[in-house]
This record gives sequence, C-alpha cells and structure tokens, in this order.
Amino acid sequence: MGETLDLDVLQKSLAGTIFDGKLHLFPSIESTNTHAMQEAAKGAPHGSVYIAEEQTAGRGRGDHAWHSEPYSGIYVSILLRPQLAAADGLWLSLATGLAVQRAIENVTGLVTDIRWPNDLLSNGKKVGGILVEMNAEASRIRHAVIGIGINVNQRQFPAELRSQATSLRLEAGRGIERRDLLIEILRCLQKEIDSLIQPESFASACLEILGRLERKSTWIRGKQVFVDEAGGYTGVTAGLDEKGFLRVQTDDGVRRVLSGGVREQLAKG
Ligand code: BTN
Repeated sequence: MGETLDLDVLQKSLAGTIFDGKLHLFPSIESTNTHAMQEAAKGAPHGSVYIAEEQTAGRGRGDHAWHSEPYSGIYVSILLRPQLAAADGLWLSLATGLAVQRAIENVTGLVTDIRWPNDLLSNGKKVGGILVEMNAEASRIRHAVIGIGINVNQRQFPAELRSQATSLRLEAGRGIERRDLLIEILRCLQKEIDSLIQPESFASACLEILGRLERKSTWIRGKQVFVDEAGGYTGVTAGLDEKGFLRVQTDDGVRRVLSGGVREQLAKG
C-alpha cells in the first residue's frame, strides 16, 4: 500500500485558500464527482473539495470508467459556484488542464502535454484526466464539479489500459508524494479560477488561457487527428476559436470539436 493522505496536513497547507475548512477525505467512495454533485444539490459551499483514497466506480469522460487503484492515484473533485454563463463552462475545463499541468511540473519536474480539452499526457500516454460536470439553468451555471484523476504511483496498469496509460512514477522513475501534488494542484487551480470567475477579469483570463494552450500543448496545431464526434472524422488541428473550441481542418473545410474526444491519427505506412 502507498502512503495515506492526512486530512489535517492538507487542511493546514491550504489555509487561506478558497478550500480552507472545506476538505473532505474518504478512504473509499463510489466516485468523488458523483458525491460532489450530490453535496452541491444539498447546498455545499463554493470551494468544497472531496478527495478519495479509492474509487469503486470512478467515472471518466464519454461514459468511460476511471481506473482508481487504492492509495496510488489522486482522485479529487472540487465544487464551484462560479458566476459564469452556461456556455462558458469549457473555460473551466481548459483552465483546470493548465493548472494540473503546471502543478505536475512544479512537483515532479515532468513536462506533460495537454490533449484538448484537458487530458494530461506523458510520452503519448495518459497520466491524468479531468471530468467537469455542471448543473446550469437556461443561462447561468448553478454549480460545477471539477473532477481530477492523476495516475501517480501506479507501477503497472491492467492489460487493457497498458498501451494508453502511464503514471508519474513510471515516467519519473521514482515515487511521488501524492500529498505534495494534491496541494499544488489545488493552489494552481485556485489561481486559474480566481481570475476566470471574476466578471471584470474574465475576458483577459480567457485570452491568457488561449495563449498558454497554444504554447503548452502540441495538440492545438498541426496534429493529424481522429475526432470521435458526429460519426467520426479526421483532419489536422488548426488552433482554437475565441470560445476555446478546437478547430480541425478537414477535406470539407474547418470543423469545431464540441465535445468529442480527439486522438492522434498515425500516418498509414
Ligand atoms: C477522463 O479523462 O476521462 C476524466 C477522468 C476523471 C477522473 C476523476 S477521478 C476524480 C473524479 N471522480 C470521478 O468519478 N471522476 C473524476
């Protein structure tokens, strides 16, 4: 078994942040995202954080399961009540990807890639994923839950995941303290969120996110991809539009990826 997380240590390290006094740690839970959405419906406050040592039914994007080996990964969901229009939810996804990428680099020295919108990759394999779920009325977000899963100290993966998944331990060649990474993720996330959810800094925060993604992701331009949406199509990535959606140049013109997954289309040899 890997090291366990200590709620007191986490609370102290995050004193003064929006998460102060709002951390919840579970030895085992179905899914921190499911729990956070339930707590949100009951009125839990902005900045509540739900962390688990193990998930028995971890969920990924597109109805996939999220493999959640006990004490090896980070499984955390953050509840936000942002002043954002429902149509602007994508910014939370993009900002979280950048926050997690920065936190991983700060703690481990590993430079990960971001596969739009927010998969964290190392040497082409997935080391982290983000699932943002929202409850919105016609125009405004009531609450959003940002779920983050990071493969930290896994030494191996089930056979069906081995070709696509890796862990920070496998990439760095040494064990990584989950506590340090979790604290850094939450600190980096707060920085991103602070400017995004203030109406006066929203527009500049979006521009900044677009610029950073261009620099910090190899997937934004010139990547030959298959898009798992609208029956599936292929093309070459051609930047982000002003709303943060990925543009893909296809034989029939430029298309915008709205919600589907993107994967690399290797040239047939
Ligand atoms: C993906 O890449 O498909 C997103 C994976 C998100 C996994 C995290 S782990 C914590 C939170 N709880 C869940 O059930 N899912 C997210």
